[in-house]
Amino acid sequence: MSKIDFSNVDFETLIVHAGQEHDPAYGALATPIYQTSTFCFDTVEEGAAKFAKQIPGYHPVYSRSGNPTTRAFELKCAAMEGGEDAVATASGMGAVGSVMLAFLKTGDHIIFDDSVYGGTNFVAESNLPPLGIEVSRVDTANIEALKAAIRPNTKIVYFETPNNPMIKVTDVAAVKAAVGPDIRVVVDATFAPPPIQHVLKLGADIVLHSITKYINGHGDALGGVVVGSAADMGVIRANCMTKINGCPPSPFNSYLVLRGMKTLAVRMEKHCANAMEIAKYLQANPYVKTVYYPGLESDPSHELACKQMENGMFGGMVSFELNDDVKGLSSFEAGKKLLNNLTIPAIAVSLGDPDTLIEHPASMTHAGVAPEARLAAGITDGLVRLSVGLESAKDLIADFERAFAAI
Ligand SMILES: Cc1ncc(COP(=O)(O)O)c(C=O)c1O
Repeated sequence: MSKIDFSNVDFETLIVHAGQEHDPAYGALATPIYQTSTFCFDTVEEGAAKFAKQIPGYHPVYSRSGNPTTRAFELKCAAMEGGEDAVATASGMGAVGSVMLAFLKTGDHIIFDDSVYGGTNFVAESNLPPLGIEVSRVDTANIEALKAAIRPNTKIVYFETPNNPMIKVTDVAAVKAAVGPDIRVVVDATFAPPPIQHVLKLGADIVLHSITKYINGHGDALGGVVVGSAADMGVIRANCMTKINGCPPSPFNSYLVLRGMKTLAVRMEKHCANAMEIAKYLQANPYVKTVYYPGLESDPSHELACKQMENGMFGGMVSFELNDDVKGLSSFEAGKKLLNNLTIPAIAVSLGDPDTLIEHPASMTHAGVAPEARLAAGITDGLVRLSVGLESAKDLIADFERAFAAI
């Protein structure tokens, strides 16, 4: 057992140590990779007792329902968010799907924000309706619109804060106050993990992440996690994750995530500082019409972000739109040239990596969203999304200067 009192330490200490016990076999400091599908019992009686959970302590029986490396990852995530328990999944979409399967049935109603990640948008528009689940879309930052969308059969309100790709911030406490105790508020906090915000403390019932992004933070593993009450996590694990969805992460990926999470606090500080510098640079750039970054005083989300996001950190994601006319080119054509001219940012979807990544939502992450719905959510053809990495901000800005000049 760890000797640390986690209720009394700073986030930097918690994220290094929480969830990770020294290995009981040899005292290894790093959590070993338990690369096994199954676990052996000395006797039939022992196996039966472990299946029946009659023996105190953690006793995995099969890696789909539990694995020690993955359990350490789950416990670290629960501690990170201040939740009672967590369930790890093989990807962020595994986390999204697990929540839907666990808490929705035919005849239920779910409200999604009008702009969510393209994969989640597909779940809302194409996966849930054929199951007889009613879906509404509203701007969840508009509390009056949200209240108006609630029906007697509403079970979940689902949004991302900040959202993908508009970096819009939704007031978690105001949403929970508006929907009351009987509707689960589910927040995808992938774009701004702790220590930037702790949405359970703000009133969310469930928080989920694509671990693939900042939390693993090295661009080398897919993963997801759901965090919330022990009761809700029990439902997800028993009914969904280990059954109909069956999507645990591999022990090796859980090990990578544990390793990545140790540096989450320092990485997020640098991502945020770099993003603020790049956002200010883009805002002052004559070819840029609008910059979406909640750290900018001019951003419509700024006031709320200052209240809801912690330690003066606003995340590492910046979106921006070029002018309608850039050197005689449309914003779309100029955007393509800009991306192609850059040398440091990689043109790639995903986010939260040490490498700066740049993408075009209308043709990449949000290509599957109907054009009218895209426009209604502000995703124009000229919108560019930037995941600001851990390089030198000075070098990144110099690269943008070169790339703009060469359009
Ligand atoms: C906000 C958000 N949620 C969920 C996902 C899905 O995560 P994954 O790719 O790990 O399945 C993504 C992927 O980009 C995302 O941006």
